[in-house]
Amino acid sequence: MDEKVKIVAIAGSLRRKSVTRTLLEAARDVAPENMQIELFPLNEIPLYNNDIEVEEGFPEPVKQLRQAIQQADGIILGTPEYNGSVTGVLKNAIDWASRQGLMAKKPVATMGGSPGALGATKAQEHLRQICLHLGMYVLSRPTIAVPKLPEKIVDGQLTDEMTLKFIGQQMEQFYDWVVRLKD
Ligand SMILES: Cc1cc2nc3c(=O)[nH]c(=O)nc-3n(C[C@H](O)[C@H](O)[C@H](O)COP(=O)(O)O)c2cc1C
Repeated sequence: MDEKVKIVAIAGSLRRKSVTRTLLEAARDVAPENMQIELFPLNEIPLYNNDIEVEEGFPEPVKQLRQAIQQADGIILGTPEYNGSVTGVLKNAIDWASRQGLMAKKPVATMGGSPGALGATKAQEHLRQICLHLGMYVLSRPTIAVPKLPEKIVDGQLTDEMTLKFIGQQMEQFYDWVVRLKD
């Protein structure tokens, strides 16, 4: 538990009161001391357009996202569930970030939650498929899929003890995963 690792956490929602972002903030707060987690907001990321990439290169916000990913030892992806899958916002960011194999061999943990009973599990399954397609090293377990997530948030903070405990356990496992895979 001595080695310091740097993690970038990305929430696939632009909503001001995003419960997914709150979930990632909770992960940041309960993570092991040597795991430094920074959230990268996707608000400025434009829609992927191959013409722009080819003719003008990566737009500035995309460069920043890619730099944050490149410099990170691991990535946490938080996805809401939209129509049974990941949000377009997250997939779009992954599409930009994936170019030139940037995401390959990066350790990744996923998490999500929903107002319903299933905790964005379908979205996470799809997200994991995408990560595997990219050659990322996906933390298989524990998974964090929080049912009735909005009810567990008070004044913008995740307060549910059990959920915080599970997230803490996932972060410990993720720390171990990242350290093992670090070159
Ligand atoms: C277009 C759209 C589709 C949605 N589809 C689902 C869904 O398939 N399953 C689900 O559990 N919730 C669904 N929801 C509800 C979201 O889980 C809920 O809005 C959640 O708070 C979004 O996360 P956020 O607060 O981080 O933005 C959907 C919401 C929207 C706007």
